Amino acid sequence: TELSRIRNFSIVAHIDHGKSTLADRLIQLTGTVAERDMKEQLLDAMDIERERGITIKANTVRIDYPARDGHTYVLNLIDTPGHVDFSYEVSRSMRAVEGSLLVVDATQGVEAQTLANVYQAIDADHEIVPVLNKIDLPAADVDRVAEQIEDVIGIDASDAVQISAKTGMGIPEVLEAIVTRLPPPHGGTRDAPLKAMLVDSKYDSYLGVVVIVRVIDGVLKKGQRIRMMRTGGTYDVDRVGVYRPAMTSVDELGPGEIGFLTASIKQVRDTRVGDTTTTEKKGCEAPLPGFKPSIPVVFCGLFPVDSSQFEDLRDAIEKLALNDASFSYEMETSAALGFGFRCGFLGLLHLEVIRDRIEREYDIELITTAPSVVYHVFMKDGSFRELHNPADMPDLTHVEHIEEPRIKATIMVPDEFLGDVLKLCQDRRGIQLDMTYAGSRAMVVYDLPLNEVVFDFYDRLKSVTKGYASFDYQIIGYRQDNLVKMQVLVNDEPVDALSTMVHRDRAEQRGRAMCEKLKDLIPRHMFKIPIQAAIGGKVIARETLSALRKDVTAKCYGGDATRKRKLLDKQKAGKKKMRQFGKVEIPQEAFISALKMD
Ligand code: GTP
Repeated sequence: TELSRIRNFSIVAHIDHGKSTLADRLIQLTGTVAERDMKEQLLDAMDIERERGITIKANTVRIDYPARDGHTYVLNLIDTPGHVDFSYEVSRSMRAVEGSLLVVDATQGVEAQTLANVYQAIDADHEIVPVLNKIDLPAADVDRVAEQIEDVIGIDASDAVQISAKTGMGIPEVLEAIVTRLPPPHGGTRDAPLKAMLVDSKYDSYLGVVVIVRVIDGVLKKGQRIRMMRTGGTYDVDRVGVYRPAMTSVDELGPGEIGFLTASIKQVRDTRVGDTTTTEKKGCEAPLPGFKPSIPVVFCGLFPVDSSQFEDLRDAIEKLALNDASFSYEMETSAALGFGFRCGFLGLLHLEVIRDRIEREYDIELITTAPSVVYHVFMKDGSFRELHNPADMPDLTHVEHIEEPRIKATIMVPDEFLGDVLKLCQDRRGIQLDMTYAGSRAMVVYDLPLNEVVFDFYDRLKSVTKGYASFDYQIIGYRQDNLVKMQVLVNDEPVDALSTMVHRDRAEQRGRAMCEKLKDLIPRHMFKIPIQAAIGGKVIARETLSALRKDVTAKCYGGDATRKRKLLDKQKAGKKKMRQFGKVEIPQEAFISALKMD
C-alpha cells in the first residue's frame, strides 16, 4: 500500500469512556466483519480465550475504508493497554502509530487516565482528534467537556467529533476525521534493509508466539530469516499477516504497515516489546532507539495455602512467566509460610491479574504477602544492593542509607472530596506539586513514595471519594529517606511474612495499628499470646491476646443443634486457611489485612 493511503492510529481514553465500543463500531461500519458475524466472532474469541486460558484478543486490526475522496484507505488500529502498570508498553505502541483518537465520555469529562494516556500520545508526536462520546445520554455536556479538554490538556477541541458509540451516531465522521486529520506514516523506504518495531507479542498454543510488528523500512515476507536485534535470536518467518480482526495471511508487509508474524518462536520472553526486527543477512545497522526492558517494581511472596500444592504452583508460575517477560520469580522459603515464590510485577494491577489467574485457572489457593517496592540499600562498605524483600534487609548498623522509589501521582476529584484527598496524600508522606481546577473538578499532583501507594492507596482513595476520584501515576526516581525494617513477633516468634519497611517517624503508629489488627484477626488460643512490633530488636508496640476460656459454641445460649453444627463447620473451614506459627495459628487474611492502614 502507498504510504499516503495508510493511517495508523490508537484510541486513548479513560476506562469505561467507550474505547472498545468505538473500536467495534469502526470495525463493523467498514464491513471488516460481516454484520451477521459480528456477535459470533466476538463470542468465539471469548470461548477460545476461556478454553485455552490465554488472551488471544487481537490488539491490532486492519480496516479498509473507502473514503469520501473516492480512495480506499488502510486504517490500522493498535489497541494499547490502558493501565499505568504497562506504561512502557503503552509508550512503545504509541510510537508505532502517528495519530490518536482521544475519546472522552461527555457525561464524565477528562479523568486521570485520559491525561496519562494523552500525554503519552503527545510525547509520541501524535496528531490528536478529540472525540466526545455518549452524546445520546441526557447528562452529556459537550460544551463543558470540550472546554475542559482545552483547559486541562491544551489541545484544540473546537472541532471535536461528537458521537455515540452505542447508537452509531457520528461514526462515519470519525472515519473521515482519521483520513483527513491524521497524517500518513512519515517516510519509510521499500528498498532499505528491513527495520520493524516489535509492538507486542502473545502466545498461541497452536501457532506459538505471534509477534505484532510495525514495519518502518524494507519489506517483511514469509521465508525470511530474521533477527531480533536486542535479544539476538534468529528465526525463519512462517507466516506474515494482518488481523481483520481474524488472522489473515498477506504476501508481505511494507513500510508503514502493521501486522503479525509467526516464526516458531517458543516463548514470549524472546520477543521484547520495543525490540527491532531485521533480516539476519544485510540487516539494518542500528536498532530503533529507546529500547528498555520493563522492570518489575513491586514484589510479593506467593505461597500455596495447602503446602502440598507447591509443585502445582511452580508449574503455574513457570507457564505464566513464559508469556509475560515482565513477570519475574524466584523460589522463596519463609519460616512462617513454607515454600513459595518471590514474584516481581510491573505494578499492583499486574500483581492482581497474575494472582487471580493462578487461583482461577490453576485452582491453587494462595497466601499473598504484603507487596513491597524495590529499595536501594547503600552499605557502609560502599557496596549496593537491591532489596526485593523486607525480610532480607541487612543489619542497620552496616547500612549507610536507603533510597525508595517515588511517583508522580495525578488525581482528578470533584471539589467536595478535595479535602479528604489532600489529607490522604499528606498522610502517605506526599508532597503536593500542583493543584488546578477544571470546572467543579480539581486536579492535584503529588510526589509520593511508591511504598505508600502500593498497598491500599487506591482503595482508600475510592472510598473517601465515593468512587469519584480517578488516579494515575508514573515513577519518577529514587530518593533517600529515613526507612527502617519493622518486624512483627507473634508469641515471641518473628513472622517474616509480616516484615515491612516503614518510615521511622511513622513506625510507632504503624506498629500499634498492626498489633491491634492482628489481635482481632488471630483467634484466641488456650494460652496468652503477645503480639509485638519491633525495630532492630527494640519493641515499639505491643498487644496481648488473652487466653480462650469458653468453647465457641457457648455463644448459642441453649442448645440449637443445627446452629451449633453450623458454627463448628465454619470453624473447620476457617482452620484450613490457618497457618501454624510455632504454637499459634494465624489466618490467611491476616497477612494482608494487618498491613492495611486506615
Ligand atoms: P475498558 O475496555 O474497560 O477500558 O472500557 P472502554 O473504555 O473500552 O469502554 P467500553 O467500550 O467497554 O464502554 C464502557 C461502557 O459504556 C459500556 O457499558 C458501554 O456499553 C457504554 N458505552 C460506550 N459508548 C457509549 C455511548 O455512546 N452511549 C452510551 N449510553 N453508553 C456507551
